Amino acid sequence: MIDIHCHVLYGVDDGSMDLQISQLMIDQMAQMGVTAVIATPHYRHHMFHYPTQQIEEAYQVLREYAASKQISLFPGCEYHVDHDIFDHLETGRVHSLADTSYVLTEYSYSDSLDRILSYTQELILRGWKPVIAHAERYEVFHRKPRLAEEVVDAGAQIQVNANSILGLDGRAVKKASRKFLDLDLVSYIASDAHDLVERASHMGECFSFVRKKYGEEAAKELFEENPGRILRGE
Ligand SMILES: [Fe+2]
Repeated sequence: MIDIHCHVLYGVDDGSMDLQISQLMIDQMAQMGVTAVIATPHYRHHMFHYPTQQIEEAYQVLREYAASKQISLFPGCEYHVDHDIFDHLETGRVHSLADTSYVLTEYSYSDSLDRILSYTQELILRGWKPVIAHAERYEVFHRKPRLAEEVVDAGAQIQVNANSILGLDGRAVKKASRKFLDLDLVSYIASDAHDLVERASHMGECFSFVRKKYGEEAAKELFEENPGRILRGE
């Protein structure tokens, strides 16, 4: 499996607190069959804007450890979308997903569909491929999950969290994530892991669930093949 969304880098957001936790997170991922991970620390105005240098250092240290566990670690960012996103991507202030044209975009839970659509369209116009992080969390889709078709039609791809599908993140989120799967709107399932317990990775468990409910082919597409295309920049 390939995990395109997780907060495994230490000390750079509200994810892993230190190197030891990051190493244990990597161990956990290796045990469940994860072979590649894109580290996606938050970038968020007035909240998470750690110096690039600090992020790079944590990345270099952890990349070596991950390699010793047969996991390839790639750089990335989960960008809480605002007007700076274009500049920050173009100047390299933040990483895109594995430094390709794919970008992991996060919105506020109460954001309107119009806001999500307009940033999605602008990113695409500028040559980026936006991936909407945990789309099942946005309230606009709780009321009407089918509205997510509009962002997919606009050219965005949808990522859902393994924990949402498994029901570990509340009922509304579980319902929306399952509905997205039923409507075939999902391109990626990722962990969004922040730690070892409260918001741990459940990729293995979720893979088994998806395989059982939607079949082997769907599980491979969501956990391996589509994420693999990001790593290859396809
Ligand atoms: Fe996240």
